[in-house]
Amino acid sequence: MSPGDLPALASLPREARRVLVRVDYNVPLDGERVTDATRIVRTRPTLDVLRRDGRSVVLASHLGRPDGKPDPRFSLKVLLGPLRSLLGVEVAWGGNAIAEAPGRCRDLKPGGVLLVENLRYHAGEEANDGAFAAALAALADAYVNEAFGASHRAHASIVGVPERLPSAAGDALREEVAQFLSLRGDPEPPFVAFLGGAKVSDKLPVLEALLPKLKTMCVGGPMAYTLLAAQGVATGASKKESGMDDTCRSLLRRCRERGVELLLPEDHVTVAKIDDPSSARVEEGPIAPGRVGVDIGPRTRARFAKAAAGAGTIFWNGPPGIFEKAPYASGTRAV
Ligand code: 3PG
Repeated sequence: MSPGDLPALASLPREARRVLVRVDYNVPLDGERVTDATRIVRTRPTLDVLRRDGRSVVLASHLGRPDGKPDPRFSLKVLLGPLRSLLGVEVAWGGNAIAEAPGRCRDLKPGGVLLVENLRYHAGEEANDGAFAAALAALADAYVNEAFGASHRAHASIVGVPERLPSAAGDALREEVAQFLSLRGDPEPPFVAFLGGAKVSDKLPVLEALLPKLKTMCVGGPMAYTLLAAQGVATGASKKESGMDDTCRSLLRRCRERGVELLLPEDHVTVAKIDDPSSARVEEGPIAPGRVGVDIGPRTRARFAKAAAGAGTIFWNGPPGIFEKAPYASGTRAV
């Protein structure tokens, strides 16, 4: 596969006036404040191209995991204000994708943008239900995937809709794929990966693909706590993915077999409660009962920095701490 295999925006039929753009606006929020808007900002060039071509845009995303039911805690409505400033355009509210959006989409003018409510309010999204996919497809004349972070999900808005509409990949998605494919080819050695973030199981297939070429793997965040716990190291009340012990042990074994150097945190910034930065302290080695790891400690930062300084190629997937909260961002900034 090459990025050239993904149809570009220019391949969309001219007569497609309304385009459903699947975005991944599953962004970290502090109340109504977007604490990291990267995913939103990265979609802007694609939206600008579509709008300049005189098309209107129906934005569709998930937020969190509301489990197929409406749940105000996961409403995308909070993004309307931030989107207006981050995308530089007025964004209309589309409401429920099935009950309200069809009528509201019809009112869109050329260049107009509308955001529909969380797709995961509908069980049909995660089930890739045919009727739900058809209803989403009916909102537009063409489809664009600009949701790299959600493209590993076989959900209706990722898989079912493009089966029903002329489709293209967004510019940011094509760029991500191009970058990633270059790593599978011939990355300049030494090849060093930095891994973090909350979800371990989703990342394992990526690691499998990279393992044969890696020299060093630096792991922080919940992914590290999950790996440490699988080795019997105490991680207090730090966030981990459960049921992963066997998988983690087999990953550790394969790293050893392949001679991949695995750097796990040796020290941690821990707190009594995530919302209480005043309780932060640095802990060496195991984490005390009840304490929550929120960042890598200074010694680990220095080791990770050394690995980065010697690298010919770096792959970075996920932060080593809760960087959205300023007091816990130092490790991520250091990396
Ligand atoms: C992410 O943030 O990893 C993507 O939006 C996918 O979210 P999900 O793991 O809930 O499918």
